[in-house]
Amino acid sequence: MSAESAPTGNAELIAWVAEMAALTRPAGVYWCDGSGQEYDRLCAEMVAAGTLIKLNPERRPGCYLARSDPTDVARVENRTFVCPPDQSDAGPTNNWADPQEMKRTLRGLFDGAMRGRRMYVIPFSMGPLGSPIAHIGVQLTDSPYVAASMRVMTRMGQPALDFLGDGDFVPCMHTLGAPLGPGQRDVSWPCNETKYIVHFPEARAIWSYGSGYGGNALLGKKCFALRIASVMARDQGWLAEHMLILGLESPRGEKTYVAAAFPSACGKTNLAMLIPPAGYEGWKVRTVGDDIAWIKPGADGRLYAINPEAGFFGVVPGTSEKTNPNAIAMLTRDTFFTNVAMTDDGDVWWEGKDDAPPAHLIDWQGNDWTPESGRVAAHPNARFTCATSRCPSVDPAWNDPAGVPISAFIFGGRLSRTFPLVYEARDWAHGIHMAATMGSEATAAADNQAAIRRDPMAMLPFCGYNMADYWRHWLSFADKVAHPPKIFRVNWFRKDDDGRFIWPGFGENMRVLEWIVERANGRGDAVVGPLGLMPRYQDINWNGLDFGSEAYRGIMDIDCEAGRREAEAQRALFEKFEDRLPPQLEVQRQALADRLAELPNMWRLGDG
Ligand code: GTP
Ligand code: SPV
Ligand code: MN
Repeated sequence: MSAESAPTGNAELIAWVAEMAALTRPAGVYWCDGSGQEYDRLCAEMVAAGTLIKLNPERRPGCYLARSDPTDVARVENRTFVCPPDQSDAGPTNNWADPQEMKRTLRGLFDGAMRGRRMYVIPFSMGPLGSPIAHIGVQLTDSPYVAASMRVMTRMGQPALDFLGDGDFVPCMHTLGAPLGPGQRDVSWPCNETKYIVHFPEARAIWSYGSGYGGNALLGKKCFALRIASVMARDQGWLAEHMLILGLESPRGEKTYVAAAFPSACGKTNLAMLIPPAGYEGWKVRTVGDDIAWIKPGADGRLYAINPEAGFFGVVPGTSEKTNPNAIAMLTRDTFFTNVAMTDDGDVWWEGKDDAPPAHLIDWQGNDWTPESGRVAAHPNARFTCATSRCPSVDPAWNDPAGVPISAFIFGGRLSRTFPLVYEARDWAHGIHMAATMGSEATAAADNQAAIRRDPMAMLPFCGYNMADYWRHWLSFADKVAHPPKIFRVNWFRKDDDGRFIWPGFGENMRVLEWIVERANGRGDAVVGPLGLMPRYQDINWNGLDFGSEAYRGIMDIDCEAGRREAEAQRALFEKFEDRLPPQLEVQRQALADRLAELPNMWRLGDG
């Protein structure tokens, strides 16, 4: 397409598209308008090409199944790079390469990489168009699956382009790395064995090569809204976080918004769509977002958050009427399912769905499957792609350009031992220490299978700069905002000696949320524990749940010996950052060690 026929006058954008087309040499360039007709056409083309399977329209209207290449099923953390000119600005937790060298490598790989394919130009807004918290990006890709997914996940198309005008955008360059020779037959999920997910924070640019899956390929999500945005946020005084946002309305009509960070596949989507359990009649829980929050100080001294996304890319396995009824309702139509199993009548199935496994399925790799097969039918990181507006619990303000005021930050990992159900920070710096030292056990959301790892603020794979500077940035908000949110740690995942979860979780997490809301609004009781402030049994609302005080103490006990080992282990985390570490964090670590030193081996919540 020539500059004259580009649907924008943005000279920088037109020049970049031309330059990238000259480099990658696609068979054609197509500017996405974001319309429903365009989306339907893309889907029909993908069905014809075998990339999508149309599901039974009577059972799942508007739904499609995609099966990825079996080697392209999750984020690739060891192929993800953050490339500022100076390695120390990437810090010890990011892969780094010299940006000039990396550019050369990428130019080599992208040379001719789109031959035989169409290049899609995808203008998109992260956040409601015109929101003072939102930003515009443009992704180039040779994947129609990515183009269609971006329409679900972002505000995509001509309105974003019109809003951009002559302004700046984040350039997001993506190729599957699978050029087609003349007459060469395509495969259903093209990708390349070689993968690079690269961020240039100085240029605020993204280059992604070789993968068509999720966070590797939908560049508005982790690459832009977290890695690049975290750098923009550092420079401009805001926060880009791996957080869900949810609104809780009490029977009295008091509305409180909280934001919560959990590592990948640790329950953000579940919590964001929570339905209050028995005993909570009159309460409403409303969803603003399930994965990413952009948070800015407002004129009234509070922090305001938007969900920059417009869709969910959620974990499918384990989603059931019991664990997430809102998601089950949402996924009945207009959804992409990737890497789930297909039933003989053209519906979908996955492990942890309500119904027993059917006698026969086609598994996520396209093979016959029976309950005797001895392998999973859906990949553990199988995902759904579905518009936020389809969520039955969506908050009326989810699209509000001003965002919603945040009263509490909640941080939680997947930890079988030591860490209690919930505790509260004494003050801001203590809260940042609690969040910075968070740990979690491995999940299928990434190819990184380290058993347990530190995941500060659930941002380990997503922070686009030195984590120590990121902590300093968080600490600075104590002075930036008059009314900072209260900070909490939660852990739904503590197990008993037989390896069973002690806490029922899911909807019952409402009980913990209510205590958090009470505390955030200056009410509610707590006692001082070794790690922070904790609710006693009688401080939690047990109406409708049979959970005794002994069981409760079982998840609130603090093994102080384990706590002392934890405080010592935090030293190793902090030492990695050498003199970049904000001294306040070492002060907090010392204070924790000192508190624990004076206590017996087992600290138990009292009765009174
Ligand atoms: P990403 O999309 O990867 O960022 O992750 P997410 O945090 O949105 O993950 P998601 O909500 O999909 O996590 C699902 C996993 O968490 C499943 O294994 C659930 O069983 C588990 N989970 C969610 N809530 C609870 C809970 O309250 N208790 C327990 N035991 N497991 C939970
Ligand atoms: C995560 O891994 O945290 C996700 C899924 O939200 S992905 O978009 O693939 O990164
Ligand atoms: Mn995520």
